[in-house]
Amino acid sequence: MAASLQLNPKPFRAPFCFQSLSPQKGGKIRCSATSTTKRYNITLLPGDGIGPEVISVAKDVLNVAGSHEGIEFRFQEMPVGGAALDLTGVPLPDETLLAAKRSDAVLLGAIGGYKWDSNEKHLKPETGLLQLRAGLEVFANLRPASVLPQLVDSSTLKKEVAEGVDLMVVRELTGGIYFGKPRGFSTNQKGEEIGFNTEVYATFEIDRIARVAFETARKRRGKLCSVDKANVLEASMLWRKRVTTIALEYPDIELSHMYVDNAAMQLIRDPKQFDTIVTNNIFGDILSDEASMITGSIGMLPSASLGESGPGLFEPIHGSAPDIAGQIEVHSVLRAACFLLVDNVNKANPLATVLSAAMLLRYGLGEENAAKRIESAVLDTLTRGFRTGDIYSTGKKLIGCKDMGEEVLKSVDSQRSAAVMS
Ligand code: IPM
Ligand code: MG
Repeated sequence: MAASLQLNPKPFRAPFCFQSLSPQKGGKIRCSATSTTKRYNITLLPGDGIGPEVISVAKDVLNVAGSHEGIEFRFQEMPVGGAALDLTGVPLPDETLLAAKRSDAVLLGAIGGYKWDSNEKHLKPETGLLQLRAGLEVFANLRPASVLPQLVDSSTLKKEVAEGVDLMVVRELTGGIYFGKPRGFSTNQKGEEIGFNTEVYATFEIDRIARVAFETARKRRGKLCSVDKANVLEASMLWRKRVTTIALEYPDIELSHMYVDNAAMQLIRDPKQFDTIVTNNIFGDILSDEASMITGSIGMLPSASLGESGPGLFEPIHGSAPDIAGQIEVHSVLRAACFLLVDNVNKANPLATVLSAAMLLRYGLGEENAAKRIESAVLDTLTRGFRTGDIYSTGKKLIGCKDMGEEVLKSVDSQRSAAVMS
């Protein structure tokens, strides 16, 4: 295999402070007494748009990769986002949160769509996702972005800039302006309508995400860049002060600070200068989308959201892409002719969700071998030349979401044949 999706020169293991890494939590059937089969309960939240397509692929891949490692999954599918709104009238039904909390890990597809765009805030699909993150208390969001040799030509940056990029954005996920109060709509003295939000961070929130980031950097190349807007925002001034204080616990890590506007520019100018980035909720949202394009496509980037205990939440960083959900990968001229046939075929890239399933195995369940099987299979599929539209380049084989899933499964199976033959 040409490269590893391990994303770090040193093998990365999640910060040991995370109990969610431990596969020995109470109350779950982890290991049967009569056989070596390990069983995990996974909540699947397909959500909206391309969510169901990509989750269906990831589920098959989990099943097959798991079976090679003596792992059995029990999946429970629950509604979230727009799908839940249509079904129950709320974007995160209590039953969904309960099922998620009771499981060993949660895999989410995507949420959102035009249909619900003008809903009131509490009835937006996105609100369901934020409630889920808050409900699971998954404050640390790991978003790796590395340029795979197979996809270097898909990057919009010049080859010499993109080649070899391997960074990790550690995004604070349950605080900041996404959740800060006061928030809402009101009127000002002139009687004009205003909308307002609050960027607020408490010391404990900064300290815990900083520690996760320092631990993460320690397992990588030992460099941490904290991104803030401390030249303007009080919340960022405290952020910088606390990160600097926590740095005293990590003398082996090289810490730098960068303003977010500069970081946005540096990511495009010279992305290889970054190893681990730690930042607040909203800056992390924006910078991780930017970082994804360095790698070729947002359709490739997975994420892991972890808390101090309880199940982790694993999701691709892309959205629901309602414009491509359920579409066929045909030339636009043909598309009109195929209009009536398009509903069962699709062009979404399932690899971000498949790689999120690998993160689920590694960070959520501690099943490193099964995680590696999936990552190797993804690389092998790309090496064999298969591409969805978002990562297509001349000379490669353009296929749809389901076929990409089939190819990944073939690669997982060929690892087994290779192992049997060797
Ligand atoms: C993400 C998404 C979400 C976010 C949206 C869908 C609420 O953009 O996971 O990056 O803003 O966190
Ligand atoms: Mg985002």
